[in-house]
Amino acid sequence: MNTIRTIEWKDDKVIMIDQRKLPLQEVYNTYEDYKAVADAIKTMVIRGAPAIGVAAAMGVALGALGIAVKTFDEFYKKIVKVCETIDATRPTASNLFWATERMKAICLLHKEMPINKLKERLKEEALKIYHEDREACRKIGENGKLFFKNGDNVLTHCNAGALATAGIGTALGVLYAADEEGKTLHVYADETRPMLQGARLTAWELQKHGMHVTVITDNMAGYMMREGKINKVIVGADRITANGDTANKIGTFGVAVLAKYHNIPFYVAAPTSTIDLKKKSGLEIPIEERSENEVTHILQHQITPDYVNVRNPAFDVTPAELITAIITENGVAEAPFEKNLATLVPKNA
Ligand code: MRU
Repeated sequence: MNTIRTIEWKDDKVIMIDQRKLPLQEVYNTYEDYKAVADAIKTMVIRGAPAIGVAAAMGVALGALGIAVKTFDEFYKKIVKVCETIDATRPTASNLFWATERMKAICLLHKEMPINKLKERLKEEALKIYHEDREACRKIGENGKLFFKNGDNVLTHCNAGALATAGIGTALGVLYAADEEGKTLHVYADETRPMLQGARLTAWELQKHGMHVTVITDNMAGYMMREGKINKVIVGADRITANGDTANKIGTFGVAVLAKYHNIPFYVAAPTSTIDLKKKSGLEIPIEERSENEVTHILQHQITPDYVNVRNPAFDVTPAELITAIITENGVAEAPFEKNLATLVPKNA
């Protein structure tokens, strides 16, 4: 049973667990305006593509509540500004733009509604996105659990669990579903430098769930595979293009190459809101570059000499040819992805 409350809407406020403080402190922050929600996304209070999508939708709903105008045109102009602020936070995760587009579309669909009713309708849509994400996670778990058997040793990278979604998670959701069926799995969590989502978040939630978890540093995966300690890999995704190329946390590409070399299946689990059919290949995915501080420091402690050059791309792209299957709430796609992925994405998405 997942008891983690990553994000919630309560009394016209948004409540999020502050993921920067986990696992040492479990703190919940309350947000009353959209600018603060945008800041929470940017600074990674909340992170993980589906959770970012839910936060974005709730941010727009909060933004709408704060608009005091009389006509639809004035209202819509302000909503577009709210969406622009939220869209500017993190460029890679598809779900963010998918959510703000969906909120704008709701406005245009209900042009004739009195403004107060439209604000309520936007709140309703944000909650719908929240509930749909929970259900998508559950279905991803059901669709993916068949690939895992008792005794599997599974490597995951970053955090694609309950903390990254409104529900049980995507990659970890699959593992929770397999665990629920009585399969005993052992999970290896890559620590995931620079922000340590694996060491801090994946380890925390798997432990909370009572599952076996071992944290390894990112450079140990090849050794563990060579030793026969890992027989499957599953990760989440931030954006999947029409040909199946998948952006996920920096380091995922390296894990996929290692898995291919060792003949280990490499699964991606994601809701269809992460699939961006408008982009043909991974070459078109914008990759977020984050602050140098995240590399020069570990948990506020400086580890590099002053003024050294640093790069900090937050994501990389795993080419489709390295992916065994993409597990979504609407089914599982295998190669050829160009043909098979499109059939899983709802037509109006
Ligand atoms: O920078 P983050 O922590 O937002 O990156 C998260 C990931 O890369 C996840 O694997 C991805 O968003 C999928 S979460 C279900």
